[in-house]
Amino acid sequence: MLIRRKAFLSLMPGLAAAACAARADAPTVAMPSDRPSGPDDEVFWAKVAAQYDPQDFINLENGFFTRAARPVLAAHTRHRDEINRRGAHYMRTDLESRMEHVRTRLAAFAGVPAGELALVRNTTEAMNIVLQGLPWQPGDEIVMSNQDYDTMVGILQTLVRRHGVVLREVALPEQPTRDSAVIDAFLQHVGPRTRLALVTQVIHLSGQVVPVRPLAAALRERGVKVLIDGAHAFAQLPFTIAELGGDFFAASLHKWLGAPLGNGLLWMRGDQIARIEPLFADVIRANDDIRRFEHIGTRPAHDVEAILDAIDFHEQLGAAQKYARLLYLRQRWVRAVAEHPRVRLRSPLDDARSCAIATVAVDGLGPTALQQALWKHHRIYTVAIEHPAIQGVRVTVHPANAVAEVDRLADALRELSSR
Ligand SMILES: Cc1ncc(COP(=O)(O)O)c(C=O)c1O
Repeated sequence: MLIRRKAFLSLMPGLAAAACAARADAPTVAMPSDRPSGPDDEVFWAKVAAQYDPQDFINLENGFFTRAARPVLAAHTRHRDEINRRGAHYMRTDLESRMEHVRTRLAAFAGVPAGELALVRNTTEAMNIVLQGLPWQPGDEIVMSNQDYDTMVGILQTLVRRHGVVLREVALPEQPTRDSAVIDAFLQHVGPRTRLALVTQVIHLSGQVVPVRPLAAALRERGVKVLIDGAHAFAQLPFTIAELGGDFFAASLHKWLGAPLGNGLLWMRGDQIARIEPLFADVIRANDDIRRFEHIGTRPAHDVEAILDAIDFHEQLGAAQKYARLLYLRQRWVRAVAEHPRVRLRSPLDDARSCAIATVAVDGLGPTALQQALWKHHRIYTVAIEHPAIQGVRVTVHPANAVAEVDRLADALRELSSR
């Protein structure tokens, strides 16, 4: 089902070789202190790109995770070295206060109280904690969509087997032009037994930005708790978790915040903390202490510490500025190919529903064939989407991409469509 990972993984050896070839010891470049004249200021954005290790191919698959910038990686290494140098002394004297410092800063960044934020390893962990920890009764209903991430669907299917929960699947429109089209699609499936709705904020298959705010308000008005999968939204789109109005929010910080791999967050309303049974048993924290969800044993604390450096980098770049650049790059290639008779865009076209991710198909070429042609003939790396709802090649831009790279993609798509 979903993204067929086999075809994608078969390219990994090439990728690994390219990563090894990157200059890990390259000097750290100072972040530009000037402001760009706009999202198309190539001189400014080239200085931002210089903050990342160079790649010898055009990387337009930044959706799996977004590479951390060099200053963040350098800080990560410093944290690791300090912990190794100090050993148990760090763990016993500083670990807790350092984690609390990260929690406080991340919570302020996310716009929620620190006492409601757990530092977890990724969205998958956060979603498992909520979905497997809630007290389910047979016949309880969960509303989800046909475009949620496959792992989340897997967790929901576990709940069906273990607890007799019933799933109600929304057919999410592919290119909605009004919020009400999405909201109505969800509300049609809400009934007296609906306990929870899983709402994915940015659809991984197409980059569609779902109108979470009005949707969460409509669901909560009907007594339905709202769990937001914010994996692709957090630190990509400018918003705070609090203003979305959900009950639970999960995200991976190695995606758009650019933190080192293995960082995520889980937020929940304070009154939900004691309702959820942790996945890993905890006997240290009180029932209403969010930290009961973090008890996984000894963990690489330097990963968590580097969240601070990733926030610093993100704030130096500026959230609104970064998002404007991503949207500019995405709309540039999308608009360059949109009118081609054999090109089909499988993502919304308006800015309000768009982000760094968009999916494209070419008539007569399957997703995998198109992905391989882009790689083989143009050294453009993307990912094939073979999903019942959406088929095509997913393109995800990164702040380090140059305009010339997305223009190369548009040229390549036009060329492949004209064969
Ligand atoms: C919508 C969505 N949710 C969850 C995840 C899982 O993220 P992670 O593997 O970091 O847990 C992904 C990964 O791409 C995703 O796209």
